[in-house]
Amino acid sequence: MSRSERDPDNSSKPRARLPRARLPGDLTPEDLIARMIRVDHAGEYGARRIYEGQLAVLGKHHPQAAEIRHMYEQEKRHLETFEELLSERRVRPTALQPLWHLAGFALGAATAMMGERAAMACTVAVEEVIDEHYARQSAALDASEAPLRETIDEFRAEELEHRDIALQQGAEEAPGYELLTGGIKAGSRLAIWLSERV
Ligand SMILES: [Fe+2]
Ligand SMILES: [Fe+2]
Repeated sequence: MSRSERDPDNSSKPRARLPRARLPGDLTPEDLIARMIRVDHAGEYGARRIYEGQLAVLGKHHPQAAEIRHMYEQEKRHLETFEELLSERRVRPTALQPLWHLAGFALGAATAMMGERAAMACTVAVEEVIDEHYARQSAALDASEAPLRETIDEFRAEELEHRDIALQQGAEEAPGYELLTGGIKAGSRLAIWLSERV
């Protein structure tokens, strides 16, 4: 049997590596932007809920309440911006929003119950993950999405400010700081992964 009879269409021949065409199931640029807006909206929603949980436990007369309220107000503005972007771009919010509603508040309340330094450690952990996340998104956006990129860069700067406030407020002195922030970071990364997809 000749080679061409065994393999009539030459399918076993190694193929040249060409730039990969988009396959069914690959994300279009529009899908990628929708994913970004969906996950950022989810994250800002979760952030607002974390601070609501912390304020509910610590109370408005707590010495750290003013700092937390300042961060909360900024998260509220971030959330409102992504709410507008969702409706402008006709992007559906994540189906997991009811989960982030509960989980965000629970995380804020639980860390505040552990003490104000643990509450601040929670902010450090979350903001460090968000910083990486926003940096990655900003780098992936080209000039055609300059306004979105500027929004993300501006919010990223405020998230870093939150991290710095939390460090100044003694986050690193929280008991079990490494374990606590490691766990919160892992949970935040999982929440990002899920909110991009679901
Ligand atoms: Fe934020
Ligand atoms: Fe933040």
